[in-house]
Amino acid sequence: FAAAGDPREVLEKAVASALGAAFGPEYNDPSKAALRPATKKTFGDFQCNAAMAIAKPLKKNPREVATELVERLEADATVQNTLATPLEVAGPGFVNMRLSDDYLSTTVEAMATEENCGLPKASQKQTIVVDYSSPNIAKEMHVGHLRSTIIGDALANCLELRGHDVIRQNHVGDWGTQFGMLLEHLGDNTDASISDLVAFYKEAKQRFDSDGDFKERARERVVSLQKGDAATLDAWRKLCDVSRVEFDAIYDRLSVCGLEEKGESFYNDRLSNVVEELESSGVAEVSDGALVVFDEKDKKKEKVPLIIRKSDGGFLYATTDLAAVDYRSKELKANRVLYVTDAGQSGHFKAVFQAAQRSQELGDMSLEHVPFGLVQGEDGKKFATRSGETVRLKDLLDEAESRCLTELQERDSDAEDLTELAKVVGIGAVKYADLSLNRESNYKFSYEKMLSLSGNTAPYMLYGYARINGIRRKAQEEVGVGKVVLKEDAERDLARHLALLSATIVDLERELRPNALCDYLFELAQIFNRFYESCPVLKAESDDIRASRATLCAATAAALRLGLEEVLGIGLVDRL
Ligand code: ARG
Repeated sequence: FAAAGDPREVLEKAVASALGAAFGPEYNDPSKAALRPATKKTFGDFQCNAAMAIAKPLKKNPREVATELVERLEADATVQNTLATPLEVAGPGFVNMRLSDDYLSTTVEAMATEENCGLPKASQKQTIVVDYSSPNIAKEMHVGHLRSTIIGDALANCLELRGHDVIRQNHVGDWGTQFGMLLEHLGDNTDASISDLVAFYKEAKQRFDSDGDFKERARERVVSLQKGDAATLDAWRKLCDVSRVEFDAIYDRLSVCGLEEKGESFYNDRLSNVVEELESSGVAEVSDGALVVFDEKDKKKEKVPLIIRKSDGGFLYATTDLAAVDYRSKELKANRVLYVTDAGQSGHFKAVFQAAQRSQELGDMSLEHVPFGLVQGEDGKKFATRSGETVRLKDLLDEAESRCLTELQERDSDAEDLTELAKVVGIGAVKYADLSLNRESNYKFSYEKMLSLSGNTAPYMLYGYARINGIRRKAQEEVGVGKVVLKEDAERDLARHLALLSATIVDLERELRPNALCDYLFELAQIFNRFYESCPVLKAESDDIRASRATLCAATAAALRLGLEEVLGIGLVDRL
């Protein structure tokens, strides 16, 4: 079987080279191929809108341009291998394109048999840093960090699947002036067990706010910490370890692995260097005793600047981020850095990226903030417990699992091992609910909705996968896989949707929107159901059709597994 290609990529290239050959090399640009999914099934699978856009500068009639394009495309061997011909010019100059049955068959065969559905890797391998999760020491990891962890992990998985070198970094908040009060509160008694770090943090803060002597000693602690005093560092490490145990327990439950801790403290030695660069390049200036960077466009210096160094000499969150940019470009030689945080930090990242671009040599390294909205309660207000306190992540995951268990028991009280099943489905539900929504919108956290068996939810998808995979297993045992022949509409619809998987993954790599993949998978499950209703597999009329349909089942199961498990990080189950 041949490799599964990406039809959109193939066609974009073909359109570009046809336009280049016909109208000049400046038109040979795949990003200008204007290839869209067809608006109606009767129009085919894709529609190329390029003729309208380029007719104007060429001072030609768009239909003429389209006709010329079609002639060249029809003569191109890759197009002949991909599309049904002749091609059709429609309306003012659209070119309708229909994937050929041969092409669809080969693609489905490859998807059913090759590792990772035979998806093509990116043509240029990049080094990509994904900065995600990033909770703060001695503070509770909250729902915002949960979102960052889930979204960041899915994006990192996708980029890895595309063949990139992905470095998953946890930018833990483990440094800064708040450690003065924490360490001072810990005192010399560093052997004491701190079971509740949050309470510990509150006590320290209270003393800091009310006791002047304590405050002064806390300041001195910060200085000795930054100087690297051995005893202070020991105590600091102990604090970090306590938090780390809690974070790791959450990562474990979410099956997040490969996330490497590169906390703020890691950049301590690089701070003075980036500050120097900011000063020597004239990007930073002193204002009210502090070192700051104004927005480049803010010529009158009216807006709040980015603070690099406080008047007391202390460095801030932004300073660390500038040092991290420097490290990622110089040491890691990253081509792309993604920062997955709440949208509230957009201003921070905009200012940091600009300051870095102005003061550092970044080459073409791209810095991208990947913002997400707030998690709200079902009433649209702040997500909190009934008594108004912030929800602990541990409790949130516990509740998802226990509610899931109750549902499973209600459905089938005699089944065994429901506890294990509920763990996988409960956690999957939390993840899928987050990933399936547009990440920039605020989202209302609802156990009921995310655990529902109907709609675009994890239970629906996991149930669908288990069922389809069962069908696949049986079909493969009895008939194996074979050549795909597309006779029925429902067969072709399924094959066509399967062939769009690679374009969906490429979009995710570029646009960083996991919800589009969720939509694709949800639709796949539904299209499969329609196929299965009208096209019997084991009872098909001939051996050839049985083998063909078994292969369609295998490709569907493989695509669902790839999307749900490999990319979105949702654990799969055999039954539900
Ligand atoms: N610790 C920060 C927070 O809790 C998130 C850090 C995000 N990453 C970064 N490089 N600033 O909000």
